[in-house]
Formats: sequence, C-alpha cells, structure tokens
Amino acid sequence: MIVFFSGTGNSEYCARYIAKLIGDDVIDSAQFIRNKQIAQLVSEKPWVFVTPTYAWKIPKVFTSFVRQSSLTGCKSAYFVMTCGGSVGGAASGALALCKEKGLRFKGLMPIVMPENLITMFKAPEPDEAEKIIEKATPVIEKAAELIKAGKPFEKLKYNFLGFLESELSNPLFYKAATNAKKFYATDECVGCGLCEQR
Ligand SMILES: Cc1cc2nc3c(=O)[nH]c(=O)nc-3n(C[C@H](O)[C@H](O)[C@H](O)COP(=O)(O)O)c2cc1C
Repeated sequence: MIVFFSGTGNSEYCARYIAKLIGDDVIDSAQFIRNKQIAQLVSEKPWVFVTPTYAWKIPKVFTSFVRQSSLTGCKSAYFVMTCGGSVGGAASGALALCKEKGLRFKGLMPIVMPENLITMFKAPEPDEAEKIIEKATPVIEKAAELIKAGKPFEKLKYNFLGFLESELSNPLFYKAATNAKKFYATDECVGCGLCEQR
C-alpha cells in the first residue's frame, strides 16, 4: 500500500505514479491527519511511504501519523522522499521509525522534484518545473521496479553533512522557519484565491 503526505502535490504525483506502475492502492494520510483520526491500515504488499523532505527529514506530522497508525500485514517498508535538492541524512530517521513499528526498512529513494519552499527559494518557472519532473521520471520508475521486485533501494551514503543537516539544523529550521502565524484568514475571506497567487 502506498501511503503519502503531500503539501503541494509533488509527493502525491510520485505516489500515484508508483501505484499505477506496481498496481497497488494509494492512501492520502491527510484525510486522517486533518480529522485527528488513527489509521487502521492493512496491506499484504510492502508499505511505501511517500513524503516531501522538510529540513532534511520526514515531516514531523507524517512521522507522527506513521507512528500512531496501526499497520497490519506486510512487514517491509520503503520510503520515497521528494525534495528540492537533498534529503540529507533522512534515511536514519526512516530506519528508526521502521524499528519502532516493527517494520523491515527496504531503503529510501530521494526524488528531486520542483522546489516548494517559497519562503526561502524561488519556485521554478513552469517550463523549468516540467524539465525537473521529466528528469525525475526514470527515478520514480526505478523505485517502482525495485518495489515490485521486492528488492531493496540502493543504500544512501550517510555522511557528516547529512548528520549536521538532519540532526542539528532540522530542529533549528523548525523553530525559525516553520510557523504558520503569518498565514491566517479573517471572516472577510471570500475564497477568491488572490493571496495564493502572490
Ligand atoms: C518546510 C519545508 C522544508 C523543506 N525542506 C527541504 C529540505 O530539507 N531539502 C530539500 O531538498 N527540499 C526541501 N523542501 C522542498 C520540498 O521537500 C520539495 O519541494 C517537495 O517535492 C515538496 O513536495 P510536496 O509537493 O509533496 O509537498 C522543503 C519544503 C518545505 C515547504
């Protein structure tokens, strides 16, 4: 079963593409997260968790979702993480999560997709985004092929930079850059969508 979390659609796109290639079901974790509902999921096929990278790690909200969910059936788990450039040392967090859940970690595949951290970087223009997705396509297909064959993903090198990014910078980043105070709506909001375009 493919379980995804997606802020702006990149991870959902990858999840649905993999699902199509391997012929498996897709679940959007947002439906549970939004309703504060504990998921009770059953899968005879490997778990494939597809998520964006937030500060070189799996987003906290998705880690909590996986941690709290009941996952019955298959004991193997793959992680596919979309990113703007690098997942840092995210694999060690994914491995730890698997250990916690009694799952066998089959690896983490980073997929470079269009950047969406627009508070820090410029989002790519549509033609540039198309090229990035084109480049990502064989990587997504490779991931699907390995999942279908039950083979592990290639092991990612864990280096000191990855450790610094995921273990030291991540908490600082969350503290400094991930608060939603500036995103709010008043009763005057008519849902025109103008703010989205700015
Ligand atoms: C809060 C936040 C933190 C991010 N941190 C990273 C990061 O550490 N490394 C990276 O390569 N991309 C990072 N990104 C970019 C996203 O991981 C990337 O654009 C991803 O494909 C978005 O997927 P989505 O459309 O499914 O939300 C970050 C984006 C956001 C919003």
